[in-house]
Amino acid sequence: MKSDELFALLRRRGVLWPTAEIYGGAQGLYDYGPLGAALKRRIEGAWTAWFVGLSHDYYLIDPAEILPEVVVRASGHLENFTDPEVTCDHCHNAFRADTVLEKVRPEGVDGLSPAEIGEIVRAKGVRCPSCGSTELSVPRPFNLMFGLDFGVTGRERAYLRPETAQSSYLSFPRMWDVGRHALPLGIAVIGRAYRNEIAPRQVLFRMRAFTQAELQIFFDPEHFPLPFDGVREEKLPVLRAARRLAGSEEVELVSAGDLVTSGGLPEFYAYHLAHTFRFYRDVLGFPAERIRLLEKSDQERAFYNRIQFDVEADLESLGGFKELGALHYRGDYDLGRHGQGSGKDLSVTLTGGRSVLPHVLELTFGPDRNVWACADLHLGKDGDRTVWRLPSYLAPTPVGVFPLIAKEHGAFALRLSDDLAAAGIPNQFDEAGTIGKRYARMDEAGTPFCLTVDSETVGDGPARGTVTVRQRDSKAQERVAVGELVGRIAPLLRPPRPARA
Ligand code: GAP
Repeated sequence: MKSDELFALLRRRGVLWPTAEIYGGAQGLYDYGPLGAALKRRIEGAWTAWFVGLSHDYYLIDPAEILPEVVVRASGHLENFTDPEVTCDHCHNAFRADTVLEKVRPEGVDGLSPAEIGEIVRAKGVRCPSCGSTELSVPRPFNLMFGLDFGVTGRERAYLRPETAQSSYLSFPRMWDVGRHALPLGIAVIGRAYRNEIAPRQVLFRMRAFTQAELQIFFDPEHFPLPFDGVREEKLPVLRAARRLAGSEEVELVSAGDLVTSGGLPEFYAYHLAHTFRFYRDVLGFPAERIRLLEKSDQERAFYNRIQFDVEADLESLGGFKELGALHYRGDYDLGRHGQGSGKDLSVTLTGGRSVLPHVLELTFGPDRNVWACADLHLGKDGDRTVWRLPSYLAPTPVGVFPLIAKEHGAFALRLSDDLAAAGIPNQFDEAGTIGKRYARMDEAGTPFCLTVDSETVGDGPARGTVTVRQRDSKAQERVAVGELVGRIAPLLRPPRPARA
């Protein structure tokens, strides 16, 4: 589906819509409706089960969204968290430099200085995307953070956090004490981050308020024990930086073991890359051939990242591969900067007495982008029906409960709906329209199981006390005893967990 068509469907079904829609919307801001909010929560829950489930020493915390200025000064965001911005002197619209240069330089502008970008704009005679004028300004660095007047006097400056990661770094010393005084130690945060994007676009892909799920793994660079054999043979769809620089966009399937022995990646990195790939394939259920792990070159990645692979999915609605998450090996940059900024030594003493400033491996994930990817990759046509083939544990409403005839079977069906809800199974009671129409509504909402209560359920015949269970994907139907429903459905609503060995 094209982006506009997909967005129209999601808006009609109440998955999401522009914030302040009655006022014409607000650029880069979207609200989730009931289906979208539930889907996003389930994706976040599946992410937590998988990544925080990688170790007993990985924890989820919930820190504040506002950071005092000293923090973003120390982290480098005050100085460096910028995108090059170009203004049209004719129509006064502002653009991100890479969008202005999209046609003449599709590889983007990562690593180029504003002066170098300005030179390309001038040399190529680039025109304003809005009015076509060539009167484009010299690019200037535009800081993406939202600043706040903090407190009553307004004299203290603070910022909405531009990434959740910073909160994990700030919490490290406290978590070291709360935890087992051992490395590796993982600190995960799921919450909103805020960026004053110059050109919000592609709906959930470039928003000004968006959610991040990030796991920061603090480890001893000399010793990171891992059950690597569990991933050694896993073939990963990688596109290495050297290959891209040589002009190839072709993905290679390379085992995690080979990425270490001949590919030069550290074991800890290949291990988490393999688990990240498995998450997208086995948990989110994306087709393996639509996923790639793209290595960023020295020029493209942030200077503090020693290794960076982006996880990308091939999305029809957005015209190709798009970034959904990434793995950043950040070295000791973050604890080093906050150590300097706070004047506190953030190194820790390990058993045996060795002191170490932990390194950080960051697994970052964008729930909003992944909501969109779940729509792009799982929602489609099957003949004349529209079906959202979400894995059952991601389905916003996993069960539909229908009385065949409202007057005769409604009371029983309502009770069944309440009993399922009490057993922790979210469901939608629906008595309106033909059964066919009700199936169609639930197919579009991604509901994997529809239960119909009929005269056999409430009658005295041999099928007494059973309901029809209809499967969304196969449309197959079977009769199941009411007493067996929870036992049959509940296990299918639990997201997979990673094998630790
Ligand atoms: N802590 C590292 C970090 O913030 P990033 O590449 O800037 O790295 C990580 O962002 C992830 O957050 C991205 O892979 C993407 O999924 C999501 N993300 C970033 N900016 C976003 C935006 N403006 N709108 C929606 N999601 C965004």
